[in-house]
Amino acid sequence: MLDISMISLIEPVRIIIGAGDQCWPGWIPSNKEELDLLQPKDWEISFKSRLVDAFLCEHVWEHLSEADGRTAARLCYKWLKPGGYLRCAVPDANFPNTVYQNIAQIGGPGPKKHPAADHKIVYDYKLFADVFAQAGFDIDLIEYCDEQGRFHYHQWSPSLGPIYRSLLLDHRNQGANIEFVSLIIDARKPA
Ligand SMILES: C[S@@+](CC[C@H](N)C(=O)[O-])C[C@H]1O[C@@H](n2cnc3c(N)ncnc32)[C@H](O)[C@@H]1O
Repeated sequence: MLDISMISLIEPVRIIIGAGDQCWPGWIPSNKEELDLLQPKDWEISFKSRLVDAFLCEHVWEHLSEADGRTAARLCYKWLKPGGYLRCAVPDANFPNTVYQNIAQIGGPGPKKHPAADHKIVYDYKLFADVFAQAGFDIDLIEYCDEQGRFHYHQWSPSLGPIYRSLLLDHRNQGANIEFVSLIIDARKPA
């Protein structure tokens, strides 16, 4: 479980969900073993009556089915403060790159041990925005590709939640070459 005594000393409360090895200054990393997006009890035990200022979640939602993703979106909404937000990134179904789509596909590229082997869905911007809009969030799409594969970038600040697999931060994007980006949204709970 998350260490509540530590959380109670910290303001604002900013939590990384499904962090893996990620560790960003000012953010508390959590993993599935302590904060499972599909286990409401984990959240009740971790946060009790405390609401959270921000969640950050990179390349996790594609490991949930669409139905589970919708349930998880409602759980995040419940535990955010009014005005709080979830910054969430997934592989983008419209990114026109064969190598990328081979990894992103449902079931991953093949080997059962590959981190993408349990991918359950590949989102495009419309479906991903709908998952969070239906949970009550206001949606801001900050990076995504449209149906023609055109990349859209709306200025966003890593200080509000860094997403590594993004135009700004991913080392594979050099100069005019866009090699690895994500579908990134800010889902904000109305104030
Ligand atoms: C591809 S890794 C991404 C890790 C990290 N966020 C990153 O960007 O490097 C997918 C992560 O999703 C987490 N995950 C999968 N299902 C989850 C769930 N139900 N609740 C929370 N985390 C989950 C896994 O434990 C794993 O850490």
